[in-house]
Amino acid sequence: MNAILTTDLPLPVHSRGKVRDTYRLSDRELLMVATDRISAFDVVLPTPIPDKGRVLNWLTHGWLSETTHLIRNHVAGDQSISRELLDSQPDLRERAMRVVMAEPILFECVVRGYISGSGWKDYERTGSIAGDRLPVGLKESDRLPEPIFTPATKALTGHDENISRAELARRAGLELADTLEQASLALYRFGAQRALERGLILADTKFEFGLHDGEVILIDEVMTPDSSRFWDLERYRPGGPQPSFDKQYVRDYLEQIGWSKQPPAPPLPPEVVQGTSARYLEAMRRLAFRYAVART
Ligand SMILES: Nc1ncnc2c1ncn2[C@@H]1O[C@H](COP(=O)(O)OP(=O)(O)O)[C@@H](O)[C@H]1O
Ligand SMILES: [Mg+2]
Repeated sequence: MNAILTTDLPLPVHSRGKVRDTYRLSDRELLMVATDRISAFDVVLPTPIPDKGRVLNWLTHGWLSETTHLIRNHVAGDQSISRELLDSQPDLRERAMRVVMAEPILFECVVRGYISGSGWKDYERTGSIAGDRLPVGLKESDRLPEPIFTPATKALTGHDENISRAELARRAGLELADTLEQASLALYRFGAQRALERGLILADTKFEFGLHDGEVILIDEVMTPDSSRFWDLERYRPGGPQPSFDKQYVRDYLEQIGWSKQPPAPPLPPEVVQGTSARYLEAMRRLAFRYAVART
């Protein structure tokens, strides 16, 4: 199976994001197509990762089909794809999802069950994350007493900015802020529990929501290695960073060669590509949703 960087379907383009190409099927529906693009430090790399797109699509389909009791989501009732489209793009069925078009709510709804990444940096400096005080003496990658909601703005270009819950309430209104927080925490708890049963720690994750017919619905990708930190339960050793199931090889490689983190990004060597692809596939294998059988 060939890895692809970009798609060219015979449909109007709605948007091309860092990873997904989204097309307009009608006034109300989009076709989201996960490519094999990978981004690091917010820059898309010139080298695709085989199998990544279908792993992201499959995991998102799986989580969305299992969380409908928590919140409505954007998956369209009809997932059929026309022969013309299927013929125009190899593997389209495995990469694509028909979704209802929502008005994206421009906040990234991050939930952290463990302290890592920018949350850890914040805590080291201030003893809090986004203004919420945490217990003293936490080690890097420690489990938090309770999962916490740490929203960020979704920057249309450039880096997202962490904001406090109070700031979210100020910008989005109390009611919407509360809806986003409660939905995000419930989804995280569900996902973290399920991941643990499969020997994975869902350290943190990011959700996106949108408005559809006046209702807040879950959109975008859900609890994938691109939007989450998954750690191997067996290898979990708090007190430092943990090996994760995502772009870690890629980030490590780019740090090691001293890339400036300004575009253009350098190509990736084959062993980094293979190592990364293998991690994505491993996450998919572990989570093993019943909803579909992966073809590997
Ligand atoms: N149901 C939906 N309606 C409208 N926009 C959506 C929907 N689901 C996801 N999106 C948007 O589509 C884009 C998905 O492509 P992606 O590659 O993840 O982009 P990004 O670079 O912004 O992360 C995101 O910007 C996301 O907000
Ligand atoms: Mg995205």
